[in-house]
Amino acid sequence: MSAHEPPDPSEPLAVAPGHDRVPDRVRDRVRVFAPATIANLGPGFDVLGVAVDGLGDVVAAERVDGPPGVELAGILGDGGRLPRDVEANTAAVAAASVARRLGLRARLHLEKGLPLCSGLGSSAASAVAGAAALAALAGVDLAAHRKVLLPDVLDGEAVASGARHADNAGPSLLGGVVLICGPHADPPELVELPVPTTLWLALGMPDLELPTREARAALPASIALSTAVTAWARLSGMVAAFYRDDLELLARCLVDEIVEPVRGRLIRGFDAVKAAAADAGALACSISGAGPTVFALADSEAAARAAGAAMVAAWLSEGVAARAHVGRPDLRGARLLE
Ligand code: HSE
Repeated sequence: MSAHEPPDPSEPLAVAPGHDRVPDRVRDRVRVFAPATIANLGPGFDVLGVAVDGLGDVVAAERVDGPPGVELAGILGDGGRLPRDVEANTAAVAAASVARRLGLRARLHLEKGLPLCSGLGSSAASAVAGAAALAALAGVDLAAHRKVLLPDVLDGEAVASGARHADNAGPSLLGGVVLICGPHADPPELVELPVPTTLWLALGMPDLELPTREARAALPASIALSTAVTAWARLSGMVAAFYRDDLELLARCLVDEIVEPVRGRLIRGFDAVKAAAADAGALACSISGAGPTVFALADSEAAARAAGAAMVAAWLSEGVAARAHVGRPDLRGARLLE
């Protein structure tokens, strides 16, 4: 393989019976956690996301006899709303894709920690946890080989959102800040960026829902070249800021004139919430993923807490119940819970 060829996605997973790679540690049962994510960081629509500490989904998997595939034995925390059909459930579709590649069968339990249709990468976290759980059952070392699960994860993501966008899946899988290069390639390339040392994230989570499919359908089919040029400059500035550990540059560049104005209108109280975060000292603020969650960047835990509280108060004054979550970027991504 030349240095310019993409890696063979199946190669590090060649641990099924009959393959010559010795598994790390084959397991009978596992529980795997995958974190929430903020996608579309400012001008990075579909290409830039960050994992968030302290929120996520869990998939428990156990080996069972039978043909390669998965069974979905139960889902906790979704209020009975997610599909139980293995061909329609995001976690099960991603897990089944890995199961077929590895020649094993597993029974799954999905534990939803993330609210549905909230803009926190709920479907991606379930898909990542499902795919990673199957790989971990087969003895794949997740820390070393998670990246090759991306096509399986995107199979699951597509079932929920109708698109194979990787800006939630990438950071949920790998942790940290992830840039999606070649977003329309199959699979897209994931590039991990340095995480600023003092970056804190505040999430304002209203008691509203906005399905990703609906939020994608609202987007313009084309934009003016001058608007695109401005977005390219800002996105490049953000990448430079991550490498330079420069939160001021990051904040100046985190401005989205393409997606935020359209989707902001779909989120009750958005303008007031964004203004409240800025007044409370947030460095920058925009819509998390497809919304309705709104995120703010801050340079300390205290500033992030103030921004989170201000966003919640602004929604309450608009008659919308909301809560805040404050955390650092999650640097670990999908991982086994022992
Ligand atoms: N990039 C995706 C979108 C993220 O905005 O549609 C969805 O969470």
